[in-house]
Amino acid sequence: MSSSGTKDQHYYEPAKGHGLKHDPFNAIIAPRPIGWISSRDAKGHVNLAPYSFFNAFCYHPPIIGFASTNWKDSAANIQETGEFVWNLATMDLSRQMNATAAHVARDVSEFAVAGLTAAPCKLVNVPRVAESPSPTRRRIPPSGSVPFKERFSPPIDAILPFSSSRSYRVRKLP
Ligand SMILES: Cc1cc2nc3c(=O)[nH]c(=O)nc-3n(C[C@H](O)[C@H](O)[C@H](O)COP(=O)(O)O)c2cc1C
Repeated sequence: MSSSGTKDQHYYEPAKGHGLKHDPFNAIIAPRPIGWISSRDAKGHVNLAPYSFFNAFCYHPPIIGFASTNWKDSAANIQETGEFVWNLATMDLSRQMNATAAHVARDVSEFAVAGLTAAPCKLVNVPRVAESPSPTRRRIPPSGSVPFKERFSPPIDAILPFSSSRSYRVRKLP
């Protein structure tokens, strides 16, 4: 325990290490919604992956974003095409959502890996998860990514793509 800790509290400064078996940050701000992000690369390959460092940042305009730790396929695709779709991961889709976290080659679609249906979107060239009740289409404006690399010392290999929404598809209650 650091000198600033008490019997009941563990104090730490991330830059100096957390001193615990597991990094507690994941659990400090929780629960978080899952950013189930579909995207497409410039060659047309489709991608789907879950990101728990995801949230809504502004009401008007409605802005969402997610953080990719390390340079992953979703971040690369969004940088290439400027588009992504957020799909709502409901409890009944949790098994498929976890399956889409698989580390597969960039040309392998996680829709197929998880047995999900890729449905076309109206405004963007990225498919949505047809089984999800509320996918949201996003188009990233050129300023819509924060590469952490240049902003932190030492540099961090992570990126925060964010965007205001262009459309929503919300399931009607019966
Ligand atoms: C529930 C869940 C949440 C995740 N959250 C994140 C996250 O916030 N950031 C991240 O970089 N990876 C996260 N991952 C891991 C990525 O989903 C995983 O690395 C995936 O292979 C990335 O896919 P991509 O390379 O196709 O984008 C999460 C995985 C799961 C199962």
